[in-house]
Amino acid sequence: MSDYHFETQAIRNQTERSQFSEHSTPMYVTSSFVFDDAEDMRASFAEEKQKNLYSRFSNPNTTEFVDKIVAMEGAESGYAFATGMAAVFSTFGALLNAGDHVVSCRSVFGSTHSLFTKYLPKWNIDTSYFNVNEADKIEGLIQANTKVLYAETPTNPGVDLLDLELLGTIAKKHNLLLIIDNCFATPYLQNPIKFGADIVIHSATKLIDGQGRVLGGVAVGKAELIREIYLFSRNTGPAMSPFNAWVLSKSLETLAIRVEKHCENALKVAEFLETRSNVNFVKYPFLKSHPQYETAKKQMKLGGNIIAFEINGGVEAGRKFLNKIEMCSLSANLGDTRSIVTHPASTTHSSLAEEDRLEVGITDGLVRVSVGLENVNDILNDLKQALEI
Ligand SMILES: Cc1ncc(COP(=O)(O)O)c(C=O)c1O
Repeated sequence: MSDYHFETQAIRNQTERSQFSEHSTPMYVTSSFVFDDAEDMRASFAEEKQKNLYSRFSNPNTTEFVDKIVAMEGAESGYAFATGMAAVFSTFGALLNAGDHVVSCRSVFGSTHSLFTKYLPKWNIDTSYFNVNEADKIEGLIQANTKVLYAETPTNPGVDLLDLELLGTIAKKHNLLLIIDNCFATPYLQNPIKFGADIVIHSATKLIDGQGRVLGGVAVGKAELIREIYLFSRNTGPAMSPFNAWVLSKSLETLAIRVEKHCENALKVAEFLETRSNVNFVKYPFLKSHPQYETAKKQMKLGGNIIAFEINGGVEAGRKFLNKIEMCSLSANLGDTRSIVTHPASTTHSSLAEEDRLEVGITDGLVRVSVGLENVNDILNDLKQALEI
């Protein structure tokens, strides 16, 4: 399988056929598996045989899904979770000990921020933040007990980028585990392991599902680290359900073609937004005006489907814009076939103090668009009429 191209791996990596010779993988909705006799059961539990025991540990559908992501990311091994946050939490739960220290970019998903600031401190694990445009400060934050360097790129919702090559170099120099949340880019656009990441995490709920149906998460990377994550998870229980794994494995078969089209639509939308007089700035990785355009070209195949732009007129203009939207959805999700618009300052990030919001690039008029797969002219027309405020 490993000689095949990305798209082929996504389609042809498949669970062994059953006695019914089905063409498409069936759903293995079973909580446990049976053994031939006492010796078969003993040897399977002792891991002398590679067999499914119980679906909290593994299941043919989750294994198929994980194997595909492992191949797509160039990883050694992986484990699938019920949600992206389960993947983030279990990775930290498995790899960190009381007293360890994390260095992370400040621009991380809200629940990851809560994990760093509210929950990990319960185990005496502290996090030091660097701002997205201050990668030169990372080394100054590293302490004797620092174990992990963590980042998302592109960031949510600011669509800023971190230089993965630089992060890989710093992690190697200081013997840190580099963990990257690759959710916005997908394995099709960016492979952090090539730049030195030890673990790559995805919320499969986003572009991997791509149709807003199921939740899921996955962590892939070095075999010995995934083994720790697997042992932690098989005891603590955040496993992905076989049904969701079946859905997500099917979704991966069309990931490349969907993401290509998402990116084509998003670039057109970003270019259009740049022409509007009441738009102060547009952030999209493959726009030449993006401050980290060169980094985007170095580490991403295309620009992704998320655009951030600022409407002139602050919170009120942002709210008016949302109220005028006719076709696009107002929803918290992203990476769906349906285009989605959100106004972080009045919704997802309204509880943050203004200075904290500004520190992660969420200005009052910032709008995030998750560009979908509708005809791009319909997306453009909706945004155009909504911007006439
Ligand atoms: C970058 C990023 N990481 C993690 C998550 C969490 O994923 P989930 O909602 O599947 O738990 C999200 C969700 O939006 C996200 O955007």
